[in-house]
Amino acid sequence: MNYDELADLYALQYRDYTDDLEFYARLADSQGGPVLELGAGQGRVAAHLARRGVEVWALEPSAAMRERGEASTRSLPVRWIAGEMRDFALDRRFPLIIAPFNALMHLYTLANQDAAIERVAHHLEAGGVFAFDLYNPLLIRADGALRLEGRYGEVEVFYHQEHHPAAQRLLTHYLVCEAGGGPRRRYTLDQRYFTRYEVARWLGGAGFDASLKGGFHGEPFTATSPVMVWTARRVS
Ligand SMILES: C[S@@+](CC[C@H](N)C(=O)[O-])C[C@H]1O[C@@H](n2cnc3c(N)ncnc32)[C@H](O)[C@@H]1O
Repeated sequence: MNYDELADLYALQYRDYTDDLEFYARLADSQGGPVLELGAGQGRVAAHLARRGVEVWALEPSAAMRERGEASTRSLPVRWIAGEMRDFALDRRFPLIIAPFNALMHLYTLANQDAAIERVAHHLEAGGVFAFDLYNPLLIRADGALRLEGRYGEVEVFYHQEHHPAAQRLLTHYLVCEAGGGPRRRYTLDQRYFTRYEVARWLGGAGFDASLKGGFHGEPFTATSPVMVWTARRVS
């Protein structure tokens, strides 16, 4: 999906989200740079790594997301690239490739997933690491109820979710209301979730030795873990 329409809302919702930053920073410290980030959004993670002196190549298809990312990393060693994770081609390999915060949930088909993992393997150095985090689908409770997602100054954001289990698809419908009765805006986030063993097979089949955790501090993965945190080393 194209995030252009969602870019303003995304900036409000996630400007203070930091849960994953130290996890990716530790990996960058141990693997070294440059780091390639797939679906780099507005540069939330890229900026954090770059402030520590790590060079980041930030791949992002949405022009509106990229513009915000470029603005927030202007004086930092971040190189922005317009592109999709299923068909990018860069003239170097990386010791670390990351896809933070559900970016892989925009690979909607098996063909997209196969193409993306082939591109990742191609761009990783031997022994390089591919790391990403995904929403734990066991937590989905899409009962259709409208809920308050957050208040951001004068803006209130409500959402309701639509779950299509047979398609492993989750639609999140946002309703954005400005104080003082301004126009209401609606956006839909379209995500295709991965199950645990689907990811394991995907990575194993592409020559990765993968490990799953249920949090950013090495917690075991359980049915109630908020995230699936995957670290996969390329072994063949
Ligand atoms: C949930 S955001 C995560 C952004 C960023 N990684 C972060 O942690 O804040 C997902 C991002 O993936 C991007 N995206 C969607 N489809 C993509 C694709 N096919 N290839 C690469 N990025 C994609 C979106 O434009 C969006 O910026």
